[in-house]
Amino acid sequence: MSAQEILLGRRTVHTFEPGPVDPSIVERALECAVRAPNHKLTAPWKFFLPGPETVSAIIDLNSDLLLATKGPSAAEHKRKSWSRMPGWLVVTCRRSDDPVRWREDWAACACAIQNFMLSLWSEGIASKWSSGPVTRDPRLLQRLGLEAADHDVVGLVWFGVAAEVPATARDGHEVHTVRLP
Ligand SMILES: Cc1cc2nc3c(=O)[nH]c(=O)nc-3n(C[C@H](O)[C@H](O)[C@H](O)COP(=O)(O)O)c2cc1C
Repeated sequence: MSAQEILLGRRTVHTFEPGPVDPSIVERALECAVRAPNHKLTAPWKFFLPGPETVSAIIDLNSDLLLATKGPSAAEHKRKSWSRMPGWLVVTCRRSDDPVRWREDWAACACAIQNFMLSLWSEGIASKWSSGPVTRDPRLLQRLGLEAADHDVVGLVWFGVAAEVPATARDGHEVHTVRLP
């Protein structure tokens, strides 16, 4: 696949086949992640690959949040669907007292996630970037061993072999280009 085919073909996938992803594919994707453009080379990111115990704790935390806000059936539904996610990555961004730095660092982290996802896609592995309420809960950062006041979760990314790739969502969407003199 050409770079453009990878960019145009990547889709957010919601359901995955069971089974682990070849760790070397994940390693290569992380290498691509840290090649993201990063003003001042601040390397504001951290990449966490949670093992079963941590995944289970994240699922519990998410279920607790949902139980409180949406009730038991929503909590149970997510517990089941999250338990089927084969690969997990959490990407955090270090906070900065300088609002410009913080914004630029956040942008770099978003680019890193995109690089990660595109690298996976180029090797036949699909992914989904999630930013649900659990990503904004300080207990997630604490679980990762970080000070919640110093970092944010930019994305929780699931990855694996796609069980189903959704049809293209962007068909018919215009490219909003404004050509100026
Ligand atoms: C910052 C960010 C947060 C996202 N959070 C979610 C999410 O919480 N749940 C979800 O279903 N998709 C989430 N997505 C994925 C988008 O919904 C998805 O990219 C969009 O539907 C377009 O689909 P595509 O990626 O297949 O082109 C997120 C994407 C980004 C960039």
